[in-house]
Amino acid sequence: MSESPLIIDCDPGVDDGVALLLAFASPELEILGVTTVAGNVSAALTARNARVIRQISRRTDIPVLAGCQRPFVRPPVEAGHFHGASGLGDLPLPLPPVPDDGETRHAVDFLVGALMDRPAGTVDIAVTGPFTNVAVAMIREPAIIPRIRRIVVMGGARREGGNITASAEYNIFADPHAAQVVFGSGAAIVVHGLDATHQVRATEARIAAIEALDTAPARACATLLRFSRRIEAEQVRGLDAPLHDPCPIAWLLAPQLFESVPCEIQVETASPLTLGHTAVEFRLADPASATIHWVTAADSQGVFDLLTRRLAS
Ligand code: RIB
Ligand code: CA
Repeated sequence: MSESPLIIDCDPGVDDGVALLLAFASPELEILGVTTVAGNVSAALTARNARVIRQISRRTDIPVLAGCQRPFVRPPVEAGHFHGASGLGDLPLPLPPVPDDGETRHAVDFLVGALMDRPAGTVDIAVTGPFTNVAVAMIREPAIIPRIRRIVVMGGARREGGNITASAEYNIFADPHAAQVVFGSGAAIVVHGLDATHQVRATEARIAAIEALDTAPARACATLLRFSRRIEAEQVRGLDAPLHDPCPIAWLLAPQLFESVPCEIQVETASPLTLGHTAVEFRLADPASATIHWVTAADSQGVFDLLTRRLAS
């Protein structure tokens, strides 16, 4: 059984889709639900896309709850240029019918309810999109904060610089005010910024190994990764696409594949030039009391071996 029940908050999104395929194929994760948020594409599309991946993974036992439709303060900034108009790259259309099973509860209500109904300190939250849902839940019911076991996020950048501006990583840039609320909450947070995720890249050999598994989730994963490689080559003139969002899921499954250091994080929420910048401070008076840890190293092959093993199961 899993160490902790888990809620995945995401904005599928091509790499969110790979993260969900990994999580849905990992029986040791007790996934209470997937909550979705406006980010890479609209809130309606991220919810639809999470249900598409759920259908492909045959995990209709897991509820998908749609969430916030825009960031706290700033206007929405989508990333369709990296994820395609559908948000799932060029996954074959028409996408499978995705019954929403009357899943009309708002993601924020689901997050608050799950945390208040479960024993304190038992529920993990993985966040792979803008932090809007989690921040709104914390403001709506501050009592959830000490009840969260860990929040494992994809977001931020320190050594690597930004990927949406020179200074900022997309998830933080998209809703910097929400990120500041979450990083300032006092919850235990493990942060996979670009410093970590840029170490984990989808080479053609790694994609071919996944494609050779020839299962519906593996074929979908290979299609999503190939789309990412093509976009990376076009937009960034890189070749091997970084595997951002699967990293927090891989950390929950195999933390030994990563290294992290204690830190404090502040988010730029005012400067038009550096909005969304994460100021990651390692120089702490008392590192042992830090609640935030910044991932500094990732075992790239280990993450792909884990993804391939899970999709083969
Ligand atoms: O910067 C990478 C992050 O932004 C990923 O979560 C990707 O899905 C986009 O949302
Ligand atoms: Ca994402």
